[in-house]
Amino acid sequence: MYNGAACDYLDFLRQTSGFLPPDATPFLRPVTAEHIILIGAMGVGKSSVGRKLAKKLNRPFYDSDQVIEEKTGVDIATIFEYEGEAGFRLREEKAIGELCRRQAMVLATGGGAVLAAPSRNLLMTHGTVIYLKASIDMLFKRTRHSNHRPLLNVPDKRRAIAELLEQREPLYLQTADHTIDTDRRTVSWTANRVLQLLDLTTES
Ligand code: S3P
Repeated sequence: MYNGAACDYLDFLRQTSGFLPPDATPFLRPVTAEHIILIGAMGVGKSSVGRKLAKKLNRPFYDSDQVIEEKTGVDIATIFEYEGEAGFRLREEKAIGELCRRQAMVLATGGGAVLAAPSRNLLMTHGTVIYLKASIDMLFKRTRHSNHRPLLNVPDKRRAIAELLEQREPLYLQTADHTIDTDRRTVSWTANRVLQLLDLTTES
């Protein structure tokens, strides 16, 4: 189970190998685009809501996991297998950095995108961040039949979800401008709620 070691490893790499992503000092940079950025746990519906939102707003939609898969030519599970979680996080950090510099978009991030401080800073300074929240029961229900998420490929999936949420919820809350409880809500309802919160209802 992930326990913060991957992020410690990232810091270690930065300090010892001179690896510094181009966005290592995001606080010094102005907000360059008003992205709508969705964060939240695996299975909460970031991609479905994001796609719907992008369509309503006639904006491009990107999913950081999909961008990483396209760039590497392999799926996320394979990256975890060969490079471990730490390797995946480095790729995720880089992908988010590149995406943030593009024109205004709707961006769905991976559930662990908030783990690295540089990624959190990038997200916070490049748009409005929405935390899509769901209960452990709901997240379990939505992910129980999928097997493409390496961190949930464990015997006790519900427990893994609970542990990840306990660790990450403070980071989601700290990064987000708004939180939406998605339990018992449809994708359409959630997308409309984002529009309301951002005062964009007339654009849809
Ligand atoms: C992860 C979430 C996944 C993907 C990877 C790791 C996480 O994305 O980035 O498997 O650490 O929560 P989704 O949240 O889109 O499933």
